[in-house]
Amino acid sequence: MVLTREQAAGKVMVALDYADAASAQRLLEELQGIPCYMKVGMQLFYAAGPAFVELLKSKGYKVFLDVKMHDIPNTVKGGSNSVTKLGVDMFNVHAAGGAAMMEAALEGVDAALSAGQSKPTVIAVTQLTSTSQATLNDEIGIAGTVEEAVIRYARLAKGAGLDGVVASPMEVGSIKAACGAEFQTVTPGIRPAGAALNDQSRIMTPGEALRQGTDYMVIGRPITAAANPREALENILKELV
Ligand code: C5P
Repeated sequence: MVLTREQAAGKVMVALDYADAASAQRLLEELQGIPCYMKVGMQLFYAAGPAFVELLKSKGYKVFLDVKMHDIPNTVKGGSNSVTKLGVDMFNVHAAGGAAMMEAALEGVDAALSAGQSKPTVIAVTQLTSTSQATLNDEIGIAGTVEEAVIRYARLAKGAGLDGVVASPMEVGSIKAACGAEFQTVTPGIRPAGAALNDQSRIMTPGEALRQGTDYMVIGRPITAAANPREALENILKELV
């Protein structure tokens, strides 16, 4: 797959895992002009709120709001409605909430769309990558392997009408085989060769993840904790074009 630099940037989701807006804004200044996707997770969203998403949108960024909704269908419908009005390009819910909850998320989106607004991509969290085999079987009480659970959740999300799932880059092939090539995969656990692993264990380089067919790769600390974040991102983009 040959990507242009702009296409490569559009596939990289920078995880803005910061405690406050000022810290995240400093990174935005460093990365100015590179059209990557920005991922806002719970930490930043709970601290800086909708205003920070609005700031990103005003700067022209695509925004993935990674808030992993998981509640009764009516509440998730309301949450989806609010984040669609906020103008995010992607958000996620937990597949473990079940089909009715995921369908309610899509209803919330449809009810919120304004004229001409494109629909946000709605994806599901399958099994958190922090879940070990023992946690799945002995604590949560789900039998079978983690991979089987991931595929079952992915099929459930696809059946409910969602656009894709968050997954390990190792699972992209089996998810695409089960749910079709168009079913999108968003993969964290990406580490450029030589980068610190931090707490990620099953990792791939950006180039490897691209060859697996991932649609978007979430990359946090290899960029945000780098001595020169712009150079770190540029090096990642060079690996993808
Ligand atoms: O810094 P790092 O590249 O490890 O950041 C990965 C990002 O992806 C973090 O924001 C983390 O919350 C998120 N994520 C993950 N594993 C998942 C789901 C989300 O690492 N299964």
